[in-house]
Amino acid sequence: MDLANKTALVTGGSRGIGAAAVLALAEAGAQVTYTARRPGGPSGPGITAVQADVTDHAAMATIMAQGFDIVVNNAGIIGPIGRITDVAPQDWAANIATNLSGAYTVIHHAIRAMPPAARWKAGPPIAAARLALPC
Ligand SMILES: NC(=O)c1ccc[n+]([C@@H]2O[C@H](COP(=O)([O-])OP(=O)(O)OC[C@H]3O[C@@H](n4cnc5c(N)ncnc54)[C@H](OP(=O)(O)O)[C@@H]3O)[C@@H](O)[C@H]2O)c1
Repeated sequence: MDLANKTALVTGGSRGIGAAAVLALAEAGAQVTYTARRPGGPSGPGITAVQADVTDHAAMATIMAQGFDIVVNNAGIIGPIGRITDVAPQDWAANIATNLSGAYTVIHHAIRAMPPAARWKAGPPIAAARLALPC
C-alpha cells in the first residue's frame, strides 16, 4: 500500500488499535495526525500528535478543517461493563458522549471539510467505537 502524498487523521491514536493504525499509515508513507485526550503515543517521521477530545466540537472542527484523505474514527472507551443496576449514570453518559456523539462529531466535521462534489463519492463512514448495553 503506497500512501505517499496522502494525509490521515486517527482519533484515539495514542495507544491500542489507534496507535497500530498510526504506525501502519505512516509506514505506508502517509502524513499522519492523531488525537487523544492525554499526551504520549507513537512518534516518528510524518507523525503529529494533537491533544483533543472527540466530544469537543470546536476542537474537532479546527482539526478537521485541515482536510484529510483518510480518517480513522477510532477513539472510544470500553466501559462501563456491568449490570445495568450497577452502572452509574455518569459512566453511561461518558460512554454515549465518546462512543456515539464523538463518532458523530468526527464524521460530521470530516465530511464538512470535503469539497461538496467529493462528499458522496467517498465510501460509507465506519466507526470503531462500540456501544454495549449492560445487562
Ligand atoms: N479492544 C477491543 O477488543 C475492541 C472491540 C470492539 C471495539 N473496540 C473499539 O475500538 C476502539 C479502540 O479500542 P482500543 O482497545 O484500541 O482502545 P484503547 O487502547 O483504550 O485506546 C483508546 C484510544 O482512544 C482515546 N480516547 C478515548 N476517549 C477519547 C476521547 N473522548 N477523545 C479522544 N480520544 C479518546 C484514548 O486516548 P486518551 O484516553 O488519552 O484520550 C486512546 O488513544 C475503541 O473505539 C473501542 O471501543 C475495541
